[in-house]
Amino acid sequence: MDGVGDSALNKAITPQDRLSVVLAEDMAAVNRLIRERMASEHAPRIPEVTAHLIEAGGKRLRPMLTLATARMMGYAGEDHVKLAATVEFIHTATLLHDDVVDESHRRRGRPTANLLWDNKSSVLVGDYLFARSFQLMVETGSLRVLDILADASATIAEGEVLQLTAAQDLRTDEGVYLQVIRGKTAALFAAATEVGGVIAGASAAEVAALREYGDALGIAFQIVDDILDYGGSDAIIGKNTGDDFRERKLTLPLIKAVAKASAEERAFWERVIERSDQRDGDLARAMVILQRHSAISGSRADAEAWVDRAKAALNNLPVHPLREILSELADYVVRRIS
Ligand code: IPE
Ligand code: IPE
Ligand code: MG
Ligand code: MG
Repeated sequence: MDGVGDSALNKAITPQDRLSVVLAEDMAAVNRLIRERMASEHAPRIPEVTAHLIEAGGKRLRPMLTLATARMMGYAGEDHVKLAATVEFIHTATLLHDDVVDESHRRRGRPTANLLWDNKSSVLVGDYLFARSFQLMVETGSLRVLDILADASATIAEGEVLQLTAAQDLRTDEGVYLQVIRGKTAALFAAATEVGGVIAGASAAEVAALREYGDALGIAFQIVDDILDYGGSDAIIGKNTGDDFRERKLTLPLIKAVAKASAEERAFWERVIERSDQRDGDLARAMVILQRHSAISGSRADAEAWVDRAKAALNNLPVHPLREILSELADYVVRRIS
């Protein structure tokens, strides 16, 4: 293919796809390791559940962040593969638990494990994957990466628990929301990018920049996830839309609309969110109110501001082709539809 064709191809595929092409060999090793470690000889329910979720794919965004940052910082060893698999295991464990907590029925285009099997299986297999992730990271022999990933695991759980108490409470403001998503989502993005730098022996300033990139990217990613819950396509995101409304979660679009509510709208929010009295047509009505107050576009603007912060953090890192893709990935996170 000539140069022009190449660049046309480059434009046609997303930065996420480009990352998976550039990291194809490393990612194949990560997937092999994941498959090897998700098994269990003693409890057949474990491979059944893990295969159901892991074979469904998923974007593998977090392990790619670890591989990309390690490579970008000049790492030439093998441990980044273990760390990337660790990060995906932690992510998968949290998804199993999250779908129980959220009573969700669809994930990665398939029925959730809690629906196909039961809550008990999801909780226990999630615990198993968490434990497997710790075994994997220990194999790197680095106390520092253990520290980072153990911290992230605790922070994710804190974020999920904080969200429990913030849900159904109309007083939840943008500050609490940020704390929740920084915990439940951005903590793992930040750890994924930070350990990539640490394993490569990057300087303290570079590691801090990598962490800042992951944190800001994760926040933007979750804001967009929350927007998609109100306007995405079930088939494309592979999850059911409207789950947050049904679960009475105070996500950013809702928080923005509640802050600007008229007396009549306030009464509506109190009924559907606080009193859990939801009727046919309420989700559609909620979406009209969100539109009226530009709550979706306002949330998108906030996500874009976090993307700018993510890209600014990259400026503190050496010039590298992967740095460019990570920068484009940040822009893509706001445009994504899945
Ligand atoms: C889902 O993450 C959980 C959130 C933080 C919104 P992803 O959207 O990365 O899930 P998969 O791994 O691609 O399924
Ligand atoms: C996912 O949060 C949180 C974790 C990854 C712990 P959500 O509940 O908002 O995400 P989805 O929509 O189920 O993927
Ligand atoms: Mg959920
Ligand atoms: Mg959740």
